[in-house]
Formats: sequence, C-alpha cells, structure tokens
Amino acid sequence: MGRKGLCAALLIMVGCLVQVAAGFAEEMYPYDLEPIINRWISSGHADGASESFTHWDAEGEVPAGCAACHSSPGYLDFLGYDGTKSGQVDKPAPLGTVVNCLTCHNEAAAWLDEVTFPSGKTVGDLGPEARCMVCHQGRESGLDVDADIAAANVAGDDEVSADLGFINIHYYATGATLYGGQAIGGYQYAGRSYDLKFDHVEGYDTCIGCHDPYSLEVRTNESVRPSECADCHARVSTVADLQNIRMNGSMVDYDGDGDLREGIAGEIATLQEKLYQSIQSYGATVTGNPVIYDSHT
Ligand code: HEC
Ligand code: HEC
Ligand code: HEC
Ligand code: HEC
Ligand code: HEC
Repeated sequence: MGRKGLCAALLIMVGCLVQVAAGFAEEMYPYDLEPIINRWISSGHADGASESFTHWDAEGEVPAGCAACHSSPGYLDFLGYDGTKSGQVDKPAPLGTVVNCLTCHNEAAAWLDEVTFPSGKTVGDLGPEARCMVCHQGRESGLDVDADIAAANVAGDDEVSADLGFINIHYYATGATLYGGQAIGGYQYAGRSYDLKFDHVEGYDTCIGCHDPYSLEVRTNESVRPSECADCHARVSTVADLQNIRMNGSMVDYDGDGDLREGIAGEIATLQEKLYQSIQSYGATVTGNPVIYDSHT
C-alpha cells in the first residue's frame, strides 16, 4: 500500500471507529469509552498495517478459509451475524478490516459460549472468552498427526514418505494450550493421561482474566491495573519477569537440568530444545534423512 492508500485506510478506520463509538456511547452508557478506545487503538487488533490484516492485499480479498480470523466481516459471517449459517464462512471478505468493537460486540458474539477446535472437540460454558478462542485456537490438532500417517499408508513408523510433512498449528494457538486435553492441540500418546486445562486460580483462568481485552496486554501492566500477577507470584514486576514464575505444585525437574528454581517457562524451553535435538538425531541415525525446522516454511 502506498502512503496515500495507507492514509485513506487510516481515515476510514478512524471514521468507522467514531461511528461505532457513537453507537456504543448510546447503548453502553454509563461506561467511559475513551480509555477503552485508547487501549484498543494501540493494540495488535487495531493494527491495520500488520501482516495479519494485509497479507492478502495483492489477491484483492481475504479468502473464506482465512477470513473468520483475519477480518471483521469474516468473523461476523462465521458467527452467523450476517444472517448466514453459523460455524462456517460463506464468502471471501473485503480487504482492510481489523478486529474492532463490532467484531466482539454484537448479538451473536454476546451469546457465544462454546468453541469447536480443529480436533473436532467442543469446549462449552466458556462465557466471554469464547470470542477470543474462535480466532486463537490454531488450525491443526494432535489428531491430525495420526490421521496423516494413516492416510500416507506407510509400512511402519520409520518409513520416509513424501506425503508426510510438518503440520503447522498456525502461530500461538493459545486456546488450545489453555484447554490442553480438552482441545487436543498437541499430540497425545495412547494410554497416557493429559491435563484437561491449565488449572489456574479463579479470575485468572480465562483469556480476559489474564489479558486486558483492549490493549491485549497481560494484566501486569501498571497502566491496566497494578501488577495483578505479583499479588500471588513473587519475583514479578514486569512482563518479562513472568518467565520466573514457579509454584510448589510443579516442583519436578521436568527438563533434568537440576535447576528447580528456574521458572516453569525455563523448564518448557529446555524441553523444546531437547525435543528438537531428539528429532534431529532420529533423522540422522534412524531414517538417514536429516530434519531441520525453519520458521519460514
Ligand atoms: C482459526 C483462526 C485462523 C484462521 C482460519 C487463519 N488464521 Fe492466520 N492467524 C490467526 C491468528 C490468531 C494469528 C495471529 C495471532 C498470533 O500471533 O497467534 C494469525 C497469524 C497469521 C499470519 C502472521 C502474520 C504475522 O504477524 O507474521 C499470517 C501470514 C496468517 N495468519 C495467514 C493465514 C492464512 C493465509 C490463512 C488462510 C489459509 C489463515 N491465516 C487462517 C488465526 C487464523
Ligand atoms: C477482541 C474482542 C473485543 C474487542 C475488539 C472490543 N471488546 Fe469490549 N469487551 C470485550 C469483552 C470480552 C468484554 C467483557 C465482557 C463481559 O465481561 O461480559 C468487553 C467489555 C466491554 C465493555 C463493558 C465494560 C468493561 O470494560 O467490561 C465496554 C463498554 C466495551 N467492551 C466497549 C468496547 C469498545 C468501545 C470497543 C472498541 C474500541 C471494544 N469494546 C472492543 C471484548 C472486546
Ligand atoms: C476475529 C479474530 C480475533 C478475535 C475475536 C480475537 N483475536 Fe486476538 N488477534 C487476532 C489477530 C489476527 C491477531 C494478530 C494481530 C496483529 O498481528 O496485528 C491477534 C493478536 C492478539 C494478541 C497479540 C497481541 C500483539 O500485540 O501481538 C493477543 C494477546 C490477543 N490477540 C488476544 C485476544 C483476546 C484476549 C481476545 C478476546 C478478548 C482476542 N484476541 C480476540 C485475531 C482475533
Ligand atoms: C494465566 C494467564 C493467561 C491466560 C489464562 C491466557 N494468557 Fe495469553 N499470555 C499470558 C502470558 C503471561 C503471555 C506472555 C506474554 C509476554 O511474554 O509478553 C501470553 C501470551 C499470549 C499471546 C502471544 C502474545 C505475543 O505478543 O507474543 C497471545 C496471542 C495470547 N496470550 C492470547 C491468549 C488467549 C486468546 C487466551 C485464552 C485462550 C489466553 N491468552 C489465556 C497469560 C495468559
Ligand atoms: C490469586 C493468586 C494468583 C494470581 C493473581 C495469579 N496466580 Fe498464577 N498461580 C497461582 C497459584 C496458586 C498457582 C499454582 C497452581 C497449581 O500449581 O495448581 C499458579 C500457577 C501459575 C503458573 C504455573 C507455575 C508452575 O510452576 O507450574 C503460571 C505460569 C502462572 N501462575 C501465571 C500467572 C500470571 C501470568 C498471572 C497474572 C495474569 C497470575 N499467574 C496471577 C495463583 C495466582
């Protein structure tokens, strides 16, 4: 987009915003909307220039398969707010929209209470966070691993097949992470038990319990509310400090590095490194085919 195009898009966005805000001002009195709007404007959801909302500019429209999560009309179409069947997107969406007030505040979104994940599993009784999880749920599931292997018709687990490739869950599939064994975003081995949810304290166990729905920041930020995570977690005063959180319930040396004081994030990071090493040594020693991960493919 040239500079003029960008200006025009910004003007349209601001124009729409003023209209929507005016509508809200009537409906949602007595709320003070200014702080809400200011927080939203600085967020990723309002960033009309980001790759998430401009990726299809050369194509001229957002394809139906991407529109539910990358455009406001696509999301409204998915919810059935546009009068079409809910749970599917019927047509491509126009370019140039973001996640705005109307996206999340309309009759269909207000009643939304359950979300179906790529695994086909439905999680219900969600309340307002269901809106977030329609988009932040990922696009593949652990079940796709077995399904793809079955479809490739290989003789055994170690046979190399051109039909098998990296299954990409699509960026941060946070809904699937939060609802672990219920959503089955990750691969689960038969006969093992898995946590059904990250069982956190009440009030901090939903998307909007931990994230401000407008700025999207984790509720550590002083400008949102004073450091809420720090009320219960020592060693936390900035967002970066969240990596230090470690509680008694998880005093297991999961990654085997002998360090029980590191944050749970450190345990996970080392496990990721070890997994990658194992995949690489498996490729080198068992199949003779090297495997590398490249975030751009
Ligand atoms: C189920 C919802 C969903 C669908 C469907 C979906 N995406 Fe996404 N996509 C997201 C979310 C949410 C993000 C960004 C948030 C994050 O960081 O996880 C994202 C991020 C992206 C980005 C990254 C932008 C960047 O910052 O680099 C690209 C590119 C993208 N998607 C392309 C696509 C394409 C192409 C399709 C259709 C074939 C598609 N997406 C379908 C939810 C979806
Ligand atoms: C990504 C989704 C999302 C977007 C975008 C969004 N909201 Fe909200 N909003 C929510 C959720 C979730 C709640 C909490 C609802 C609840 O608890 O029932 C909420 C609550 C509210 C409330 C009630 C007061 C409060 O803070 O709880 C107002 C007023 C409001 N939003 C206005 C707006 C305006 C104006 C915009 C556009 C600038 C906007 N919202 C954009 C999701 C969103
Ligand atoms: C219509 C789809 C959609 C909905 C609904 C939605 N998001 Fe997003 N969200 C996105 C996309 C797309 C991005 C990436 C935006 C970008 O890169 O500018 C994103 C980005 C984010 C980010 C990363 C922010 C950043 O600055 O990188 C967070 C956190 C987030 N969303 C949380 C939420 C929460 C919490 C809710 C519910 C209140 C929600 N989202 C609802 C599509 C959605
Ligand atoms: C227990 C609190 C908690 C819950 C519940 C939670 N988050 Fe988060 N989320 C975090 C923290 C902490 C981070 C890392 C923030 C950082 O490092 O900047 C994060 C990161 C993210 C990111 C990546 C943002 C980025 O810029 O890298 C997205 C997107 C996101 N969360 C969306 C969601 C959604 C959607 C839900 C609900 C399905 C959710 N989160 C539930 C605490 C939470
Ligand atoms: C009211 C107290 C309270 C608040 C506020 C709180 N937490 Fe927690 N948190 C806990 C408790 C208790 C546990 C241990 C749960 C368990 O082990 O079952 C925990 C566990 C965690 C864990 C996992 C630690 C581990 O060792 O497995 C993370 C990560 C976490 N919290 C992040 C956050 C974030 C981010 C925030 C702020 C958005 C937050 N918490 C706010 C009480 C709280």
